[in-house]
Amino acid sequence: MCGIIGFTGELDAKNVLLEGLESLEYRGYDSAGIAYFNDDGIHTIKTTGKVSSLREKVEAAPKFHSTCGIGHTRWATHGGVSDTNSHPHTFGKVTLIHNGIIENYHDLETKLAAEGKYPVSQTDTEIAAMLIDHLYQGNPMKALKEAIKYLEGAYAFCVLFADKPGVIYCLRNGSPLVACHCEKGSIIASDMVALIKYSKEYFVLPEQHIAVLTKDQITVYDINDKVVSPKMLYVNWDLSAAMKGGYPHFMLKEIHEQPEALRSTIIPRVRKGNLPDLSGDGLPHTIIDSINRIIITACGTAMHAGLIGKVMFERLLRIPVTVEIASEFRYQNPIMDNNTLVITISQSGETADTLAALRLAKTSHAKTLSIVNVKGSSIARESDYVLYTHAGPEIAVASTKAYTAQLSCLYLLAFSFALEKGKVTEEECSKEMEGLLQIIPAIEKALTFDVLAKDISKNLKDCEDLFFIGRGLDYALSCEGSIKLKEISYIHSEAYAAGELKHGTLSLVTEGTPVIALATQSNVYSKMISNIREVRARGAMVILITNGNVTVDSSIYDYHFALPHLSDDFAPFTAAVVLQLLAYYTSVHRGLDVDQPRNLAKSVTVE
Ligand code: G6P
Repeated sequence: MCGIIGFTGELDAKNVLLEGLESLEYRGYDSAGIAYFNDDGIHTIKTTGKVSSLREKVEAAPKFHSTCGIGHTRWATHGGVSDTNSHPHTFGKVTLIHNGIIENYHDLETKLAAEGKYPVSQTDTEIAAMLIDHLYQGNPMKALKEAIKYLEGAYAFCVLFADKPGVIYCLRNGSPLVACHCEKGSIIASDMVALIKYSKEYFVLPEQHIAVLTKDQITVYDINDKVVSPKMLYVNWDLSAAMKGGYPHFMLKEIHEQPEALRSTIIPRVRKGNLPDLSGDGLPHTIIDSINRIIITACGTAMHAGLIGKVMFERLLRIPVTVEIASEFRYQNPIMDNNTLVITISQSGETADTLAALRLAKTSHAKTLSIVNVKGSSIARESDYVLYTHAGPEIAVASTKAYTAQLSCLYLLAFSFALEKGKVTEEECSKEMEGLLQIIPAIEKALTFDVLAKDISKNLKDCEDLFFIGRGLDYALSCEGSIKLKEISYIHSEAYAAGELKHGTLSLVTEGTPVIALATQSNVYSKMISNIREVRARGAMVILITNGNVTVDSSIYDYHFALPHLSDDFAPFTAAVVLQLLAYYTSVHRGLDVDQPRNLAKSVTVE
């Protein structure tokens, strides 16, 4: 939520900030702004709308000669979308941008009002600017450290003090900040995508630390003013990975990047004899030995990956597994102990609810393992063990390649745990792994459904309601198919366990209602076909997805995707690609903003 960037150095700050904000726009895109030091002090330009609107305003601004500034792209939490509520906010000598939520802003506002100080916006952020200015007596470090004592909630700030030109002060508590110093200066941002043009090496600003950026260096202080050297991290992707590379949207590019994402995630974890090997990730194979219960917790698409993981874990390990929505789990007083393994899944590694769920698990002494895409993110750092998905940067708000990469990690874990527990022999495990390796060429083939998906989705673009149905793994995947369509096409859809339809939802199926029916699982195949007949009999328009080219009565469907054949357990990988393509093209046909759907943001760092 919200993208932050700060730069000081030898380059034109305008370009660095605007380009940085363009790359961070997926984090929030209802308004944007920058503040910069000019010869005559700090100037601020901000506007509602996208970064492109900000760019127009900035280009039109006279006399922009600056090498030091901060920029922000907003996803509104407190206060509506307006120019006034956009960041940066200035009060007195302080100008700042913020990612997060100041939970006690109302109390602070009342205290500041007693001093005769009033905000002009409706935001929690302006209260933070007022507080820091109130505490400022010429020493920025001191004011920021003092502010920590008053502020409750999550925050990442970049602050300019009017009497400290050329310097950016940054403070982090909960919300992410990554930084690097390069030949041309110092740069800090919410996400590595804004830094990659300048460096592949970076560090994560530790919690409750202050970074001071000058053109020559970045100095990081802990709360006791001690200078610390955060661990340097390295990304193995480059600028092209964070660009569209000829695709019309990031989402389509990321759908097509799935074979590569899976190759990078799976291949390094296969040892001789086609067996899983997670030792390179620091996972002792004994981790599962004392475990009698697994809880998977996550949000959104990552939680849907967990639904598939549950089926695989239970099938192979015969250990009870529950999948919990992190925002529910954290307040439900869940039952956990040191024989529980809690698996958190997160692309960003920063989702506030998932992070809170992880912290809760740790207080119960459960073992914690996370599946995360972003290196060095909070969830990765705070888990006992981490298995990284090597999907590369995912920029479209709708998650695609991160999802299938998360699935592949769950399968690797399931196979590796089953081997350790003696639930499968090496020979059986090796066969499962072969199946996992086969998904890579199969996904390549599934991607050739692009044209068919584009064509079929023309029939979906005007519908108001749509249903996804399936059983077993297909039901778990239906949940993901449904959210994918909803978030980018704004069409209402629901995922239903096919056998449950007649207990209510069937009443909603009428002439022409689109039903996407997944029938990839042979153990329930004939049951699924009966369920499809039920919707068909009510006039549904059926889009059927099968595993391989099965013989099926053509009167029960309108359109048919016969996926490249895989053993049943692996069908969710190829079927996911088809569902992603259907959602993508439906959104395109409706003329919507595919990569940045309304009201949503990629990285949800607030509750
Ligand atoms: C947001 C995104 C989803 C994502 C979810 C969890 O809602 O739009 O695509 O699945 O957050 O994010 P995470 O980074 O924890 O996977």
